[in-house]
Amino acid sequence: MLSGKARAYTNIALIKYWGKENEELILPMNNSLSLTLDAFYTETEVIFSDSFTDDLFYLDHELQTEAATKKISRFLDLVRIQANTNKRAKVISHNFVPTAAGLASSASGLAALAGACNEALGLELDKQALSRLARRGSGSACRSIFGGFVEWEKGHDDQTSYAQQIPSNGFEDELAMVFVLINDQQKDVSSRDGMRRTVETSHFYQGWLDSVETDLMELKQAIAEKSFQTVGEVMERNGLKMHGTTLAANPPFTYWSPDSLKAMQAVRELRASGIPCYFTMDAGPNVKVLVEKKNQTAVQAKFIELFSRQQVILAHAGQGITIIE
Ligand code: PMV
Repeated sequence: MLSGKARAYTNIALIKYWGKENEELILPMNNSLSLTLDAFYTETEVIFSDSFTDDLFYLDHELQTEAATKKISRFLDLVRIQANTNKRAKVISHNFVPTAAGLASSASGLAALAGACNEALGLELDKQALSRLARRGSGSACRSIFGGFVEWEKGHDDQTSYAQQIPSNGFEDELAMVFVLINDQQKDVSSRDGMRRTVETSHFYQGWLDSVETDLMELKQAIAEKSFQTVGEVMERNGLKMHGTTLAANPPFTYWSPDSLKAMQAVRELRASGIPCYFTMDAGPNVKVLVEKKNQTAVQAKFIELFSRQQVILAHAGQGITIIE
């Protein structure tokens, strides 16, 4: 019996990963840049044994469906090839996410699984190789191997597509991210389906690709200079552009709900009242607001007033993957 356990934190992209160049290897169309956060994480234990006949996947104490297990099995198959083993596995995962958050946890989940497998099978992968492995589970997971600001270099093949931490002189420790959790009744378009549809059909997709390099360069410069305003402005416009591509897809779709717009408007009002803060969104209606720590309380208070206490979660910069003994 071989076992390993790891914890990984979620990350939120300031420059979004949106579109795959290669669906099987999960090579992205563009570089992305994220901040790892401390408020949401996954702990995963994996046990490989000759006595198991199938892979089993438990999430928060519940045995998962065949469909959910299949996704995990496909990832385990990649690991089994690397380790040259046929052993089946039991995967026991816990998501530490505030209740009813409605937050996707694929980034922390697949990063933790990659780390646990590395440990269990003694693969001795370094962080770069671990990032490449996590990428095969879920693109954004490759960034959760590292703490702080992290760039995913798109690369051109399996070897060259991985994330790495970018130097920031501790800037992330001055920042906070306020999560505004918005439940919507709409049917979800997964990030995978949403990306595919926009790459294949959106007339705005080329515009996204044409401008993302410039956004990335500006953001990196702003991080190096610790310029909060520029970081926020670039993040906000990059996120809006990503969401713009979905409106020109066929059929068109959006991740926004009326409450998402209400939250965006509140960010603009906060700015007008002299509190610098900026928003971004991912493949769902939740809004994430970047603010300097010194102003976090004012931002939190505004959103608690507009929504409810349970819908507002404060996060700070988080660390990279850790092995749990
Ligand atoms: O890693 P995935 O397949 O869940 O894709 C994540 C896509 C976005 O969250 C929308 C953007 C990003 O870079 O995280």
